[in-house]
Amino acid sequence: MHNFTLHTPTKILFGKGQVAQLREQLPTDARILITYGGGSVVRSGLLAQIRGELAGMSLFEFGGIEPNPTYETLMGAVTLARAEQIDFLLAVGGGSVLDGTKFIAAAAHYDPARDPWHILETVGGEVASAIPLGAVLTLPATGSEMNMGAVITRKSSGDKQHFFSPFVMPRFAVLDPVLTYTLPARQVANGVVDAFIHTLEQYLTYPVNAKVQDRFAEGLLLTLVEEGPKALVEPENYDVRANIMWSATMALNGLIGAGVPQDWATHMLGHELTALHGLDHAQTLAVVLPALLQAKREQKHAKLLQYAERVWDLRSGSEEDRIDGAIAATRDFFERMGLKTRLRDYGMADAGIDTLLAKLAEHGMTALGEHGDIDLVQSQHIYEAAW
Ligand code: NZQ
Ligand code: ZN
Repeated sequence: MHNFTLHTPTKILFGKGQVAQLREQLPTDARILITYGGGSVVRSGLLAQIRGELAGMSLFEFGGIEPNPTYETLMGAVTLARAEQIDFLLAVGGGSVLDGTKFIAAAAHYDPARDPWHILETVGGEVASAIPLGAVLTLPATGSEMNMGAVITRKSSGDKQHFFSPFVMPRFAVLDPVLTYTLPARQVANGVVDAFIHTLEQYLTYPVNAKVQDRFAEGLLLTLVEEGPKALVEPENYDVRANIMWSATMALNGLIGAGVPQDWATHMLGHELTALHGLDHAQTLAVVLPALLQAKREQKHAKLLQYAERVWDLRSGSEEDRIDGAIAATRDFFERMGLKTRLRDYGMADAGIDTLLAKLAEHGMTALGEHGDIDLVQSQHIYEAAW
């Protein structure tokens, strides 16, 4: 196991009705900006409920943060936050609202002489403070509610990039599984697959004898395989939703990734696919991951065998057969959740591989994977195999 430092200060308020605890989490005299997306929280009544819980406090609102939140939209909120001297942000929605709010938080405090896009260009390295933020999560998927990452898109240039900063870690997150009952099947599936792949990207590398991290990861994978399909047929099964919600948070809050090698190549290749073709985040992962596992099966040999045995119960046949079986079972799971696993099935004329590779190069993504050996040539092979 490698050395690590782990600090996850987000307070989690988990379970039915926990929105009622919201008021106590916020400073009484704060000027609070509530941020939300395209209207699901208006339709579900959650926004009205939150207004009620926080009645009498200084509240401002900014709606319209889109999936794959854009710099162009978010800059409107940055202007508002600066003008109104907002000193607390409350994100209500899915990963896009949370990520967008993290950007608003950092950008509002950023050197006014700089365009806040610089935060993405420097991966958050120069963020020195941010407006404190909290979250009410409505879509279990990204782990954004308990981590320091955010992914922002700049439409004008076709860029989708991430940044990290401890300053944007949510102070608290309300996780009420009931709030996920209204999710469309497509978003349920996206969330389960995203969380599954976050887990794999911290697990399917090479062994470092990190038994706790491995077994936590396997527990999350098994839970998602067991509960994911149930959420599609029983949308109001509380226990199913609760297990999925907690799995998604645990999949990317630092715990399973501490002290182990990681491989975020699937995400990096996927972000370019969203930027170019507009695919949902999880759709991009579902097409890239099986192709990547196939391409890297030698480097990942030992962990693929462990994954085959412990997650898919594949114990007989040759090692290569078991690895084939595990990759096929993974693809089949995504398909059962309703995600297509080949680019050609998403209705595009061609993959635009030259553009994808040019953007990877521009973003410095030329040495990906746990060994840093996924260069542009390998990325090209993976995109081709994903077609
Ligand atoms: O915008 P509204 O109207 O709220 O509707 C949203 C949106 O259309 C809807 N939705 C959310 N909760 C709902 C609901 N509809 C009905 N009932 C509810 N309870 O779902 C749609 C998708 O929402 P979005 O927030 O975009 O989805 P998700 O949570 O999957 O977030 C995806 C974004 O997170 C980034 C992705 O790149 C993408 O931009 N990621 C962030 C990460 C992080 N911060 O650590 C890591 C991830 O790997 C990921 O890259
Ligand atoms: Zn993801």
